Amino acid sequence: MTRILAISDPGSLSAALAVLRSGKPVALPTETVYGLAADATDPAAITSIYETKGRPRFNPLIAHVADIEMAKAHVRFSPLAEQLAEAFWPGPLTLVLPLSDSNQIHPLATAGLGTAAIRMPEGFARELIAGFGKPLAAPSANRSGRVSPTTAQHVADDLGGRIELILDGGRCRVGVESTILAVNGSQLQLLRPGGIPVEMIEEVTGQIVKRSTPLAGTAALIAPGMLASHYAPDAAVRLNVSEVNPGEALIKFGAFQLKGEDRAKAVMNLSPSGDLREAAANLFDMLKKADATGADAIAVAPVPEHGLGEAINDRLKRAAAPRD
Ligand code: TXA
Ligand code: MG
Repeated sequence: MTRILAISDPGSLSAALAVLRSGKPVALPTETVYGLAADATDPAAITSIYETKGRPRFNPLIAHVADIEMAKAHVRFSPLAEQLAEAFWPGPLTLVLPLSDSNQIHPLATAGLGTAAIRMPEGFARELIAGFGKPLAAPSANRSGRVSPTTAQHVADDLGGRIELILDGGRCRVGVESTILAVNGSQLQLLRPGGIPVEMIEEVTGQIVKRSTPLAGTAALIAPGMLASHYAPDAAVRLNVSEVNPGEALIKFGAFQLKGEDRAKAVMNLSPSGDLREAAANLFDMLKKADATGADAIAVAPVPEHGLGEAINDRLKRAAAPRD
């Protein structure tokens, strides 16, 4: 049986700590998406994350920390990394940094790489990590290859019966996963666009962020999780449509009327006013709802590529990629 407990419940923190201390994972809200969190220093706990998700073991996990001191116990910060942490933590930015000699993050969580992906989440997740006193490894709380969850109900739909406890913090504020940035000395490389737009990173640091190939190719080797087909609904996904085919479920952006809209099986709008933040927060929920209509295909209107649009379009391309 899976228990769902609101984070406003006074017993939620201690209930979550009890599960974590028994070496098992809990599902918890973060500002980006719900995570499946367990002790990042404990091989058995990490193994149960991989098993619960059905995730390939060569795909390493993000270690979540409560504060910069906890981060510094495990990875080495260059001055640039420090500047980024100061500007964006807590928040949706993950830094890939070299492991320190004395780090306690288990190699199962880093897939044996010499680096670790590390981030400081906001709110309940951060409090829980502080209470636990050790980093939590946490991928998104969905079965591997499926759309990431942005509500407790999404988690229950995907992992119900497989985990003991889901902490319910309502809808995630950001709605897409964290931006992943590799920091090599003074070089910045984008491994995954996400909740912090690249423009903001460039503005704060005065550095150009190098982009890796967005789909497959080299990016797949650097961030092994960035497999092309990811976030896959059951329905086929058609992008940048200007016209809807009969029976398709339509996901719109902005106020425009599309050709054939009246023939759609369902019509949703990521943001009628064209606000990319609102669109990011709605993205995964609408993909799931469009899929649940049973339509053979989901048609998606164009979304601009700037700001959070880069992360939205990245997830849409993965949802539309050929399946293996
Ligand atoms: O917003 C988020 O980042 C969410 C919430 C729960 O915090 N977590 C998340 O985790 O999206 P996950 O496991 O779905 O994605 C982690 C990504 C994977 O693509 C993985 O390949 C990459 O981080 N990664 C982890 N460690 C890495 C490393 N040392 N070097 C390069 N990429 C790494
Ligand atoms: Mg994921």
